[in-house]
Amino acid sequence: MVDITAIGEVLIDFTPAGMSEKGEQLFECNPGGAPANVVVVLSKLGKSTAFIGKVGEDQFGEYLTQILLENGVNTKGLVKESHANTTLAFVHLKEDGDRSFSFYRNPGADMLLEIDDIDPEQIKDTKIFHFGSVSMTHEPSASATLKACIQAKENGALISFDPNLRPALWEDLEQAKIKIKEGLVLADIVKISEEELQFITGLTDLEEGSRQIQTQFKVKVILVTKAEKGCFVRFGSGSKWADVPGFKVHTVDTTGAGDAFLGGFLYQLIERGCSIERIRDEDWIPIVSFANAVGALVTTRKGAIPAIPTYQQVIKLVQSTGVDLSKESYRPQFHYSPPAMWMNDPNGMVYFEGEYHLLYQHHPESTIWGPMHWGHAVSKDLVNWETLPVALSPDHNGAIFSGSAVVDWKNTSGLFDGGSGLVAIFTHADIYPDSDRPRQRQSLAYSKDKGRSWTLYSGNPILSDIEITDFRDPKIFWMEEDGVWVMALACGDHIRFYRSANLKDWDFASEFGKSDGSHYGVWECPDLFELPIDGSNQKKWVLIVSIGDNPDYPEGSKTQYFIGSFDGWKFVNENTPDTVLWLDEGRDNYAAVSWSDIPEEDGRRVIIGWMSNWKYANYTPTSSWRGAMTLPRVLSLTNRNGSVVLTQMPVQEIEKLRKESISWSDVAVTQESPFIHKTNDDLLEIEIDIDIRSGDEVHIKLRSSGQSETIIGYDPEREWLFIDRSKSGLTDFNSSFACKHGARVVPENGSIKLRIWLDRSVVEVFANEGLVALTDQIFPDKPIDNVWINTETGRAELNSLHIHTLHSIHMPECNTEQIARRVNV
Ligand code: FRU
Repeated sequence: MVDITAIGEVLIDFTPAGMSEKGEQLFECNPGGAPANVVVVLSKLGKSTAFIGKVGEDQFGEYLTQILLENGVNTKGLVKESHANTTLAFVHLKEDGDRSFSFYRNPGADMLLEIDDIDPEQIKDTKIFHFGSVSMTHEPSASATLKACIQAKENGALISFDPNLRPALWEDLEQAKIKIKEGLVLADIVKISEEELQFITGLTDLEEGSRQIQTQFKVKVILVTKAEKGCFVRFGSGSKWADVPGFKVHTVDTTGAGDAFLGGFLYQLIERGCSIERIRDEDWIPIVSFANAVGALVTTRKGAIPAIPTYQQVIKLVQSTGVDLSKESYRPQFHYSPPAMWMNDPNGMVYFEGEYHLLYQHHPESTIWGPMHWGHAVSKDLVNWETLPVALSPDHNGAIFSGSAVVDWKNTSGLFDGGSGLVAIFTHADIYPDSDRPRQRQSLAYSKDKGRSWTLYSGNPILSDIEITDFRDPKIFWMEEDGVWVMALACGDHIRFYRSANLKDWDFASEFGKSDGSHYGVWECPDLFELPIDGSNQKKWVLIVSIGDNPDYPEGSKTQYFIGSFDGWKFVNENTPDTVLWLDEGRDNYAAVSWSDIPEEDGRRVIIGWMSNWKYANYTPTSSWRGAMTLPRVLSLTNRNGSVVLTQMPVQEIEKLRKESISWSDVAVTQESPFIHKTNDDLLEIEIDIDIRSGDEVHIKLRSSGQSETIIGYDPEREWLFIDRSKSGLTDFNSSFACKHGARVVPENGSIKLRIWLDRSVVEVFANEGLVALTDQIFPDKPIDNVWINTETGRAELNSLHIHTLHSIHMPECNTEQIARRVNV
């Protein structure tokens, strides 16, 4: 199945290219043709595309086929015609970059496309089918175009149509109108200019004209392009529309701008599973804005295809005009997420001179995983984050995989001229020379300016092992008792410990875990630290180990921990080897590691995890970015029934975000008489204490005004706390996403206490003071706007309930000081 197939003309645009020495006009040969431009845009944005059309058996035909191929377009449907030449168009540019055309097409090969030239399979296997009216000016291509389009529609493809009126190509303009109307009858999506709208409807008013097209032809989306002024879009069945402003750029040639715009729009549609119905009202503006940016960028260079921007250039333009992060539909509002592009594991977390540094696995050019860099953000309070430029980029030793950072207070590394500074140790990932075997080696980078710039150490890599392939994610810390640096390193199915005096030379100390804990996936991202038990003087060591995805396990990647002792050399598990302790019982908390160097007077061990899962991380339905972090959480150890276990709670600083709070007590709920709280806010903190002695199952339902519902439930019979996200909204991007999962929670004094944070597309649930945590992403069809609490059958008593609405950290007025003041009043 390809994402999009276009039918129609691919031709040569001869664009003015100055004067010859003799003073004659020169023309440059550029590939063009509206439907071809559209598929090339989509190819460049990473979608799979195919093209159906005809070129002559000439140099130009050869050249165009080559260009489409080079741009990743499937050209199986591009046929050669021996009875006519490839169509040529001469473009005449006016001062302002606007243009007119003269066509050399009597006939051109594109006009001779016949239905028999088209392989029916190609029409069957496409999500979107795109066409225009240039291939409908003459027979036989007019019938071939319409027939192919009808077949594609019957096969379930979405139909995209660009009337693209070129009066010079029609013998009779009335005939043009008839054919365009035939196209409109088939279309789900229409891109039309203001002039074309007037030509078809006789109306200059965009609202009225587009309504006429909508009602007369049942078109689902009408995009009226207004050149540099942007686009008017009508959508939905009623009277919904938006006028989305364009981008100011330096225009040199508008050729292909409309096609690029449409390519950008269709890209966004494909990203949303090609379902127009699924697009939420508030998403139309960012979607069309993205399309406007693609269109604008194409005008900044000459030609159409050569001027098509990359995804990164588009996002840069969109971001440069200050996208409002508070308005993106799934963008978490109080969890860190990168302003744009891909993010996975947290890395290099260190506190230094008043700042918490959060570095992370980052692909700055894509929303899917790729060559890894370290992105970088800093915070003074673990609530508000400032994104800094990328800290580390791939070099000759490879990509920058996960790792950690410390303050080298005593200049043990000798890198800081007697002072102190930041040292990061991470995995350099490439492949062994002349092979395709991955090579992972540990390297060092340091910063003398509070992390604002980083230098890769000249002696890199500093630790290698030719035997072990999965050899990565070093976590380093200072072991005060021994006056030595310790490194925990993931080695496939176990953790190795190394020691160093200077952070550069490392000696093997011991290994742990080949037969301990869970092994359903590769071991990754360790962390090792000591914590007091229940605040006493007694302490134990905690070893955290993440486990990668295994296709046979629906839960995907997950993080486990071990409790034991560590003497600077060796970790000893105090539980039996088959004991498995999970850090989080939800699906979306991976690669969690803790901050280094939090001052002793603070004394907290604060951890943060990547809020996604390798099972589907690359497919979650966000558009300009992908990936977010959990709330920073404080870890503690507690004694339960003779065993020591971890507890975790978000850092208290998060409470500064509370905006309005409402409390209830002693509320009885049954199945028929639910507690219902309507809210305009999808940023909530809920504190609830439920008396579960009746033995009836209780549901806390986070509902949207659409169909979405996420249930946080407790089943007293099984003593089981769960999240059910099977109806939480968009789930079909991966078959494991719609699921119900949870963990045992034992009631205390006949009740369970939950604290729940909802951040637009994220739910974090903590039970009984953080003994159990469940972290899940959700993608509701509409913003969550009501909280329901009821039982399955029978009755339950809500001892107490507090619902706080929360501020967004992306709203400028929400800096922490102001919030603190508000809370204090
Ligand atoms: C964990 C992980 C690490 C690796 C990094 C690459 O999520 O697979 O083991 O260093 O991601 O991005």
